[in-house]
Amino acid sequence: MNVEKQIRDLLNQMTLDEKIGQLHLINGAGGHIPDHLRHTIAEARIGGILNEVNVETVNELQRIAVEDSRLGIPLIIGRDVIHGFKTIFPIPLGQAASWNPAIIKKGARIAAVEAAASGVNWTYAPMMDIGRDPRWGRVAETLGEDPYLTSVLSTAMVHGFQGEDLKNHDSIAACAKHFAGYGASESGRDYNTTNVPENELRNVHLPPFKAAVNAGVATFMTSFSDIDGVPASANELLLKQILRKEWQFDGFVVSDWASVRELIVHGLTANDKESAFEAISAGVDMEMASDTYVRSLKELLDEGAVTIAQIDNMVENILRIKARLGLFENPYTDPAAFPTIANSFHLEAAKQAAVESAVLLKNNNHLLPLSQDLNSLAVIGPMADEPYEQLGTWIFDGDPGLSQTPLRSLRDTLGQSMEIGYARGCKSTRSRGKEDFPEALELARKSDAVLLILGEESILSGEAHSRADVRLPGNQEELIAEIAATGKPVILVIIAGRALALQNIVDHVDALLIAWHPGTMTGPALTDLLTGKVSPSGKLPVTLPKLTGQVPIYYAHKKTGRPASPETFMHIDDIDQGAPQLSIGNTSFHLDAGYTPLFPFGYGLSYSKFHYENIHLSAHELTVGESLTVTAQITNIGGVPADEVVQLYIRDLVGNVTRPVKELKGFQKIHLHSQECVTVEFQLTNEDLSFYNRNMKQVTEPGEFHVWIGGDSDTQLRAEFRLVSP
Ligand code: GLC
Repeated sequence: MNVEKQIRDLLNQMTLDEKIGQLHLINGAGGHIPDHLRHTIAEARIGGILNEVNVETVNELQRIAVEDSRLGIPLIIGRDVIHGFKTIFPIPLGQAASWNPAIIKKGARIAAVEAAASGVNWTYAPMMDIGRDPRWGRVAETLGEDPYLTSVLSTAMVHGFQGEDLKNHDSIAACAKHFAGYGASESGRDYNTTNVPENELRNVHLPPFKAAVNAGVATFMTSFSDIDGVPASANELLLKQILRKEWQFDGFVVSDWASVRELIVHGLTANDKESAFEAISAGVDMEMASDTYVRSLKELLDEGAVTIAQIDNMVENILRIKARLGLFENPYTDPAAFPTIANSFHLEAAKQAAVESAVLLKNNNHLLPLSQDLNSLAVIGPMADEPYEQLGTWIFDGDPGLSQTPLRSLRDTLGQSMEIGYARGCKSTRSRGKEDFPEALELARKSDAVLLILGEESILSGEAHSRADVRLPGNQEELIAEIAATGKPVILVIIAGRALALQNIVDHVDALLIAWHPGTMTGPALTDLLTGKVSPSGKLPVTLPKLTGQVPIYYAHKKTGRPASPETFMHIDDIDQGAPQLSIGNTSFHLDAGYTPLFPFGYGLSYSKFHYENIHLSAHELTVGESLTVTAQITNIGGVPADEVVQLYIRDLVGNVTRPVKELKGFQKIHLHSQECVTVEFQLTNEDLSFYNRNMKQVTEPGEFHVWIGGDSDTQLRAEFRLVSP
């Protein structure tokens, strides 16, 4: 039957109470079904439940909804399945470092299969907020700082979660969150105010959400934060003008946890009724975890503040997704219809994702891969053997019992060929005592090389866990300095949930690998990388600052009217005593940090080396609306086969609004054997060259453009072209 007819026929049979029930999403009771919940469902007074993952319980909840209620409308069952369900993949920020949509789609597909086996049919993912502030704890959940990369990778996640057809038994509805601008929380403090001018909102924060709509995402979630003074859960510009009118989204919008009632706390409303009115008027269909709709809707209807047509539209949006999920035909879950949880295929995929997520930032004297001649290796650090901590944030259903840690994997793999000693060095990543230093230093002194595995425990990133100082926490920096003073070769692997400020330690180590929180298969992935079984291939999805004070710092910044340069920057230590005010120039830099990051967006080394040359354009002048072909030659000039992420950037030199100095508009991950040379081709379309102007219109303007191809955002391999009016 036609879905629209199906839901319209059903709507016409529903009472007002049953309609209001569909708008209500409540938290599960942890595997139990208390009588009051049984009655609530039988009376059709809720439309969905979140955080219930016991499949027997979910089936009984659905049975009550389908068999005991008057119209038998099934429930939607939500859960935060963010980077895996039982088998945990790298945190999304880590997955983004793989720049591999296929492996990200595969991870989401596996997460969907494992979650659906538990009765979950809706995940609150992908999170596609733009993450440009590592102080913000939720940057761990983002796909990085760039709108284009985030658009491509969140599209892959939507396809992974939702499968070929939402009706499939192992498909789950995805949720584009948090709409919108949440990543701009002031000072990186979670839930804080955001002030994002509409032009920046449209050019930076919204593209991934638009891509998600184009990918067929089933639902949206509003963010907690207020944006330009109007919280997202009451923001008509976002939910009505942009999402519905401009993008024609036809799924449903859910609030974040109690974000409707929190409109009172924001000071936008004075009570539940006003909150319900504001959220409904803006376009929030389903209220999560607060009950202002249930409490106020009848009164609002009686007063004429809200119309039954509005309610019907909200209910239809929800019923539409339930119908597309096939819940009316198949509301129950048969666990036997699913593969074994955390099977070898799932674990292997998680390992591959972890391998491709790791970013090699430094490798002096080719210290990595580990030499076969090593007789002993000192593994030191509080993250070397932590089954839970390596999983990262948002792993409600993850199983640390499945985790394979770096220490154990290294011993399994190398234990026969070298002595692998272990010392914690620090009680935790946050501890400040030095009582564990002596043991670590003694082990270092008697070993041929040191492998430090440091970073952040899981709790130090994620929701509500922001940090004002993004250096390595605790006294890890001191540990690194003292270990370095032993004179031994030092490899540092960082397991963390954010871009850290590493200026104080980068010179103390010979090799540096960022692995983010790599998930269940951290150990085998790092072992394959450190032993050279596979070369690192990750590229930074976020800029790494020297110091916290540089934040926010990102590659796609504006030129400003006074850009800094090596010629105009002077470091605080180099200024003459008594220097007069104008002696060091007036351009945009920090006296004590300069204007460049420690490592740029898109950067990452491998065990080989790639040479870029011969960038070529299909034309140097084209008419607005035409496409351009851009090619370049890449050669693996190193001695081993390796992957490389070839990146394409543009710059629109003059625009109706100022444009970034570079913008990512394409990437391809290629595998080259030693000495192999390929020509990589990109198409630049009219859409790629467009932006929102000061009138909020998407335009492509005539004028000069630069285009680069390279292995990171600092690439200098450039060509130029001109767009002319038709
Ligand atoms: C949380 C988060 C949101 C999550 C929801 C349900 O507070 O902000 O991302 O999906 O509540 O757990």
